[in-house]
Amino acid sequence: MNDEQAPAHTAAEPVPVLEAVDVTVRYPVHRARGESVHALENASLRLIPGRTVALVGESGSGKSTFARTLALAQKPTSGSILLNGKPASAQGRRARRDYARRVQMVLQDPFASLNPLHRVRYLLERPLRLHGSVTGREDLEQRLRALLERVRLTPPERFLDAFPHELSGGQRQRVAIARALAVQPEVLLGDELVSMLDVSIRLEILNLLATLRDEEHLAMLYITHDIAGARYFADEIAVMYAGEIVEYGSAEDVTQTPAHPYTRLLLDSTPDPDRMEFLAGRTNREDGEPDAATDDYGEPPDLVHPPSGCRFHPRCPLARAACRTESPPHVQVTDRHWARCVLLVEPGDGASRDTTTAEVTQ
Ligand SMILES: Nc1ncnc2c1ncn2[C@@H]1O[C@H](COP(=O)(O)OP(=O)(O)O)[C@@H](O)[C@H]1O
Ligand SMILES: [Mg+2]
Repeated sequence: MNDEQAPAHTAAEPVPVLEAVDVTVRYPVHRARGESVHALENASLRLIPGRTVALVGESGSGKSTFARTLALAQKPTSGSILLNGKPASAQGRRARRDYARRVQMVLQDPFASLNPLHRVRYLLERPLRLHGSVTGREDLEQRLRALLERVRLTPPERFLDAFPHELSGGQRQRVAIARALAVQPEVLLGDELVSMLDVSIRLEILNLLATLRDEEHLAMLYITHDIAGARYFADEIAVMYAGEIVEYGSAEDVTQTPAHPYTRLLLDSTPDPDRMEFLAGRTNREDGEPDAATDDYGEPPDLVHPPSGCRFHPRCPLARAACRTESPPHVQVTDRHWARCVLLVEPGDGASRDTTTAEVTQ
């Protein structure tokens, strides 16, 4: 068969709508001393229509920085963002508005993102008028209803005149999603958007997002600290540690045959997703993130002075001398699964027993 001779990834490689290429973000903190927070380091990511990439990592790993950079709300120190293959620009009002129409962000806390002084009707009317081609009062009314129906807030008249505080957390997040959809975006960036919701509501919202992604062919970035939830919801998973993507692959590969020691630690501290325990909130902190200071694998690093060599080495149970000085190699585990860890090319005692490593060294 001729097809078999073609490289697998060229024929079927879908075209990304939004792409980050080698994006680095540093936040200056002490200009006189020339110090900055190394929040994101050479991160690349491709978002494909109809697919979800999950960005997984603990608090402070740079997830929100990455999302803000993709939304052009944060300027990268270096690297580029491409929308449909062209460098994205936020120069000027029109370019910003056009970009915001195509790339929408939904945040963790709908209370903070929905103005409490306005009714749902007003909150949704604005984006519809700004970006849609509303032809009159009746058309607007119809679009408002359709929008609420799309996020399953029915019957719409029950919700149109409500204030955010009159709604439950899940309903508010549905309004926030409806507002994002009002401009018919191509990309939805969800930053911890179910983390603050009641356990019983999380799955409903994830199911809604999955339906919307499929029906509207949206490209989605799903940011979470919960790798088990990511496995359930995403097509691909990018694992972030201290501002770097340390592993990337299909949700199945990353969770079933994790290659990076950090991914394995994340999975070890996560309940079995098949029992859906991940929905049963395991955190004490108000923002829903695991408390890094009390978890069982040590302190997160100082990103003003990030660790030398591999940033994970101070917490890595398998670290060796070279990890302190050498940048970890990018290792292709399979065609579409990679990780950055020296143990994948030179397995040590601990790593050689691991099945993933065995695949690499074959
Ligand atoms: N505006 C800012 N100025 C300085 N440091 C920041 C700023 N925003 C985020 N940071 C720092 O950058 C790092 C990454 O933060 P963030 O992207 O919010 O991570 P996450 O979303 O994964 O919790 C953290 O060390 C955080 O303290
Ligand atoms: Mg964040």
